Amino acid sequence: MTDDTPTYSGPERVFSGVQPTGDLHLGNYLGALVKFVAMQESHDCIFCVVDLHAITVPQDPGQLASKTREIAAAFMAAGIDPERAIIFAQSAVPAHVELAWYFNCIARMGWLERMTQFKDKAGKDRERASVGLFDYPVLQAADILAYKATHVPVGEDQKQHLELTRDIADRFNRDFAVPGFFPLPDPLAEGPGARIMSLKDGSKKMSKSDLSDLSRINLIDDADTISKKLRKAKTDPAPIPDTAEGLEGRPEVDNLVNIYATLSGLETGQVLERFAGEGFGVFKPALAELAVEKLSPVTQKMRELMDDPGEIDRILAEGAAKAEAIATPVMEEVRQIMGFWRA
Ligand code: TYM
Repeated sequence: MTDDTPTYSGPERVFSGVQPTGDLHLGNYLGALVKFVAMQESHDCIFCVVDLHAITVPQDPGQLASKTREIAAAFMAAGIDPERAIIFAQSAVPAHVELAWYFNCIARMGWLERMTQFKDKAGKDRERASVGLFDYPVLQAADILAYKATHVPVGEDQKQHLELTRDIADRFNRDFAVPGFFPLPDPLAEGPGARIMSLKDGSKKMSKSDLSDLSRINLIDDADTISKKLRKAKTDPAPIPDTAEGLEGRPEVDNLVNIYATLSGLETGQVLERFAGEGFGVFKPALAELAVEKLSPVTQKMRELMDDPGEIDRILAEGAAKAEAIATPVMEEVRQIMGFWRA
């Protein structure tokens, strides 16, 4: 890793993004949305529906705009206030695409070839993956740096992409001899919700792309569906242990206890104290009740917001204008630094 000096001295700013692909699940909610809501209390925040990232795999053009509105609705239903934080669609601000191209000429093939998300998503059929899928993390770096964002709340799976963002920022600052021009953004990828695992396999993260819907709790699942999925969640015959050590080697149980702790705001130790010695016949219904209690108001609010797409469009348009106003001077400086012609 390169050293960070001299460092960026501009204002702190938070940026994060969520793709409008498929329904949001508990991992997205606890790993990202809940953190976004907390950040808006203390920081200037920009939350983006990353529709340009979504098209790195095929999307139905007839659905894309509506899925974008849905994520905006989810942001607001979770508690993001569009008067305080900026909410907008990535494709509405051209700076993302432009900066991504400049960064394409700075990032190295070797850096991108190390990205585990690309390897996972492309699978064995690498030759048929879109160039955009390979380039995904460069666009992500552009998202963040077009606003000189300093903090990026994400789930743990995004840590490697954030490291790449730092490498690109650092390389730009050095190559063009503009120390401290771009910040080296900090990933906020720690904490209890950062790594929510599949309900069917505790070694895999909960994911939109898992073929089994039983592996995840979706934000739009109703109470019966949530109870059913948790009833069917993989566990083992032993009861809930009384110490954290007792969770070692039991990834599925560890995950369920972690979900309970994150949803309730309790420490793992407190959850274990409450349920030590109990079987899953007791723990799973308690977890289902808690999940429904926390998620159903969000789902309900999301539905209400989706009933008025015109209002969501108004918020997204206002957000895009505010975002553009921040990115425009950054992009002017970038073009000047890189030496592009201007009349
Ligand atoms: P996306 O839409 O795939 O995921 C959105 C957020 O949800 C988090 N997440 C999880 N957190 C905990 N446990 C899980 N099982 C889980 N699954 C997903 C992700 O880490 C993410 O924070 N690449 C980003 C989108 C993006 C972005 C950006 C983020 C594009 N540009 C700029 C930050 C800054 C992504 O993973 O989206």
